[in-house]
This record gives sequence, C-alpha cells and structure tokens, in this order.
Amino acid sequence: MLGAQQNLSAQKLQSLGDKISAVLNRSMQVARVYQCGSGGNNPSHFVAETTTGEYIGLKSSSRGGVANGDEKERLIAELASALDAPNVCKVSAITIDEIAALNGRGVNAIEWLEGGTSLDRLPAATANALKNDPSAFLRQYGEWMSFGLLFGTNDKHSGNWVWSAATSSLSMIDNEDSFQSTCGVQHLYLGIDSASSRVLLKQVGHGAGNGVELARGLAAMQQKYHDRSAQLQSILGSSSVATFASSWMRVSAADIAATVFPQLA
Ligand SMILES: Nc1ncnc2c1ncn2[C@@H]1O[C@H](COP(=O)(O)OP(=O)(O)O)[C@@H](O)[C@H]1O
Ligand SMILES: [Mg+2]
Repeated sequence: MLGAQQNLSAQKLQSLGDKISAVLNRSMQVARVYQCGSGGNNPSHFVAETTTGEYIGLKSSSRGGVANGDEKERLIAELASALDAPNVCKVSAITIDEIAALNGRGVNAIEWLEGGTSLDRLPAATANALKNDPSAFLRQYGEWMSFGLLFGTNDKHSGNWVWSAATSSLSMIDNEDSFQSTCGVQHLYLGIDSASSRVLLKQVGHGAGNGVELARGLAAMQQKYHDRSAQLQSILGSSSVATFASSWMRVSAADIAATVFPQLA
C-alpha cells in the first residue's frame, strides 16, 4: 500500500538510480518512485522501486519530537549489523535533488526487507500461519527485543516491524527514535501479538512452549552484546550519541529472559 506515484522524468530516475547505487555500493536502476504512503514522516518519505522489483526507502526524518532521527536510524543499522541481528535493513546517507520534497534535506536510503509486510498489515492467511507456528518469528523477535532494550529503540508499534512470509524473516524498522534510556519491555512487546500471545507467553514462562523460542532469541542477542561490547562502544563513540548507556546493558544473557517475561503483559 504505497502512496502516489511521483512524476519524475527518465533523466531524474536515471540519476536517482546512480546515486542510490553509489551509496549502497551495488548497481541498480530506478523504475518508479512512490510516496511511502504511511507513517508520521510520510511527507518526507518516498520509495524507489528498482527495475528488479526491490524497494529502497528514501526517508528524511521530519516527525515532531524526534531529534537527529536520520543519524540515529543509520547508527542503529550499524550496531544491528555489528551484532548480526536478523535481517538488518541497511541504511546509508544520501543527498538527492530529484524529489522536490527532499531537496536540501538529510536523507537515508534504506533497503526494504524483500517481500516484507508490516505487522499491522499482514494478510489474514499469513497471520493465521504465524499463529499456527510462531517459532521462527519469536526466535527473531527475541533477538530484536534484546537489541531494542540495549539501545532504547522506542516507537515499536506493529507498523514498525516487518515480516516476510516467503523467507520467514523478521526485521525491526523505523529506528529514528532510539537511544532513549526510558525504553522498556512495554515499548517493544506490541509486535508479539501478531504471531502469538503475550499473555500466554507470560503465563507459560520462558522455559516452556513457544516461550522457549523468544527466550533463546533474547539470550542470543544479549550474549553477542557482551561478547562484542568493545566494538559496539567504539561504534557509539564515533557518533554524536557517544555516551548512551542503558540498564539493560548490565543484564547477563543468563538473566535476560527471566527479567523480560514477567513484564510481557
Ligand atoms: N525496511 C523496510 N522494509 C519493509 N517495509 C518498510 C521498511 N521501512 C518502511 N517500510 C514500510 O513503510 C512504512 C513506514 O515506514 P517507517 O520507517 O515506519 O516511517 P515512519 O517513521 O513515518 O513511521 C512501514 O510501516 C512499512 O510498512
Ligand atoms: Mg513507522
């Protein structure tokens, strides 16, 4: 459900493709450009469809109440890559003048998850299939949830998670409002109900049923964080966010599931 197709000349589509190819470091051509069509940043958010059917977001953070959103969105993608989070959507800074609304603004080119649909728009058949077997979803969700707690990624309503049924891939998106030390489990748990039930998971606990998968993901990410914390601190240190710390950084991989589960509902 993209927004209106933009009226761009062949020449502008060509130069846009060249610029995206340069920042993403691989060659592509842009066939069409649409307004994104949803989200608080919609007036400054467009999507380029490539000739091979990929989607590249062209997003400039403009929503009220978010400071340095473009830089934060890039930094989160870099940290997530360093932690091998599942299906990280690559984010690179880009400067473009082919789309009037983005002229003179800071913009990120964001590689959309192939075949991805945000959880608020899952077709009924996909949602049913997920509820029948949420294990792959919950394993990945656990990793992203731990990651989100570590780096304070606020604003994770169900529109800010994308699922590809074809490849059973989950990604956490829209990370402009990150590095918020008040971010807790309740800011990150909403997507779970698209595939499972938070109430049930809380009841069953982290040692049984589907809870095991969520717990595995949580522990896996927390372990990676502790193993690689020097590298992550150096990534943080090279940005203006330099000093971010959250209390979740002190939780061990062994304790993370037991800390999160009681707060799921
Ligand atoms: N990386 C992505 N992969 C797949 N779909 C995406 C991606 N980024 C954005 N989208 C789609 O575009 C919508 C709006 O993008 P988002 O970054 O959340 O904008 P906003 O900051 O305005 O909320 C999402 O809800 C999702 O449907
Ligand atoms: Mg959003």
